[in-house]
Amino acid sequence: MAEGYGFGKIILFGEHFVVYGLPAIASAIGDKTIATVETSKKFELVDKRPATDGYKVTKKDEMDRSMKLILDFMKINPVKTPVKITLSGNLFCTSGIGASAAMATSIARAFSEHFNLSLNDEQVNRISYEGEKGSAGTPSGIDNTCATFGGLLWFEKNLKGGENRMELIKAKKPIEIVLGNTGISQETKLVVEDVKKAREADPKRYERIFSDYMKLVKEARGVIERGDIKRLGALMDENHRLLKEMGLSCVQAEDIISVAKANGAAGAKITGTGRGGYVILLTPGKAVQDKVAKAIETKGYKTLKTEIGV
Ligand code: MEV
Repeated sequence: MAEGYGFGKIILFGEHFVVYGLPAIASAIGDKTIATVETSKKFELVDKRPATDGYKVTKKDEMDRSMKLILDFMKINPVKTPVKITLSGNLFCTSGIGASAAMATSIARAFSEHFNLSLNDEQVNRISYEGEKGSAGTPSGIDNTCATFGGLLWFEKNLKGGENRMELIKAKKPIEIVLGNTGISQETKLVVEDVKKAREADPKRYERIFSDYMKLVKEARGVIERGDIKRLGALMDENHRLLKEMGLSCVQAEDIISVAKANGAAGAKITGTGRGGYVILLTPGKAVQDKVAKAIETKGYKTLKTEIGV
């Protein structure tokens, strides 16, 4: 049986901005989606991934579109060469964690093995990007890049269609974070389209928001490399303020953020699509990480503790 994997990701800086060619900083997390592929009598996709309630229903159309795009791009005919794909792994699927890209990457890798294609990471990433079009509409490519290569990355989409800029960032030391799950799933494509419409309706306001963001992301890279956690937290807060102004937060995200701040989080922001999904909380040191996670769980939200820049 052929097997492939794809990492989950978080965006530390720049979701949505990255769609317009602005730089973003993102990190893969250790949790993965695993795809297995085996010959079958008919094409079948069995989804055993752990997920937030309602996630698989909300994402059904996205998943179907992604699957078709991947099959078409790889020129695999599911009638002539039917396979059973089974998705599993420890990546808990919810909006904001790059679950759709992790799925696409894992399937591309499993197909590569099953059909003896010997694809390299660049080719897997290209296929995963194709799958992302099914979920994000006009994806920046950041999610599939993290899902495929892993690591902490500086990413810039090439709007002219050439190669994207991707550089590994070396954090001074591992950064502890907690991800707080709002429990709400969103369709990335729809949220990306809403932002596009809002920008077209008020270009002046968005010019100011984009310029404020540009200043903070440029500073953020050096701050991560120097290990200045206090400043990193302040920049994450500032990024969240801009995302909130763009209508990308929600009541539950704000609730998680205020509980986390009251318990010692150094910075907080939504991550990924927004209007739900996960919130990243910067929690320096194991003690603060545990305290923040516990406080959020007490309020009924699920959490995930991880480290980035390891
Ligand atoms: C989704 O994880 C990130 C977005 O910026 C979309 C994209 O980059 O393709 C919202």
